[in-house]
Amino acid sequence: MEIYDPVAEEYAAVFDDISLRVFEWPWIRRLVEKHRPQSLLDLGCGNGYLLKALAGIAPERYALEPSSVMYSIAAGALDSEVVLRQGTAEAMPFEDASFDMVISLLSFRYMAWGRALDEIRRVLKEGGLFILVDLFAGSFHPFYVHKYLAAWAAARLLYIRNREYYQRLRRLTRSPDWRRMVGEHPKRELSEAKAAVERNFRVEDFRLLSAGLRGVTAGFLCRK
Ligand SMILES: C[S@@+](CC[C@H](N)C(=O)[O-])C[C@H]1O[C@@H](n2cnc3c(N)ncnc32)[C@H](O)[C@@H]1O
Repeated sequence: MEIYDPVAEEYAAVFDDISLRVFEWPWIRRLVEKHRPQSLLDLGCGNGYLLKALAGIAPERYALEPSSVMYSIAAGALDSEVVLRQGTAEAMPFEDASFDMVISLLSFRYMAWGRALDEIRRVLKEGGLFILVDLFAGSFHPFYVHKYLAAWAAARLLYIRNREYYQRLRRLTRSPDWRRMVGEHPKRELSEAKAAVERNFRVEDFRLLSAGLRGVTAGFLCRK
């Protein structure tokens, strides 16, 4: 059984719209619009909401998802132009040098970083880009106060505008399956991720997209 099988349906129902990713989505969209990749792979695509939003920006869109439950949800949601495959980042069913861009949005944390990064390098064309956005461990730091405030304000605004989302999110995060899954895959250190990424890629941009009291969301733009 894959990690996300027990939580896939509830997770996919909560995050059904990419604009809920208030800090992550604008940064990713800007990069995709700027670099205009011909071929783009979404690694650990979940319900496919990112690729749906990128229709019209990237002509050739590919998705990889290991969980069969999530895969079925993505298959039902994505348009027929998207090539959806089942598999893991550590052993991708794609030829060498297939893509101009690979994106991992909140899926990297579940991967074996060494093998996954080797594979991402392999499937990227020379000069291709890897966009990594994920949650990492972190504790309170006064330097990030403005980030905590921005995250708090965004959460309040979402709460006011979309109560249903909050109710669904609360149900998900309180469910025993979610708690078990998160407990078995705790957030890893940002410094560890940076070191792993820098062993394989040139990091052209790094951002702290948002910060909370128990973790940070960071974005890396990396070039092969
Ligand atoms: C938090 S969800 C994120 C899904 C989607 N990218 C999003 O932003 O909603 C994590 C996803 O990573 C996938 N995943 C877990 N392990 C993986 C692996 N080894 N390789 C690729 N994807 C993986 C899960 O099945 C799940 O769909």
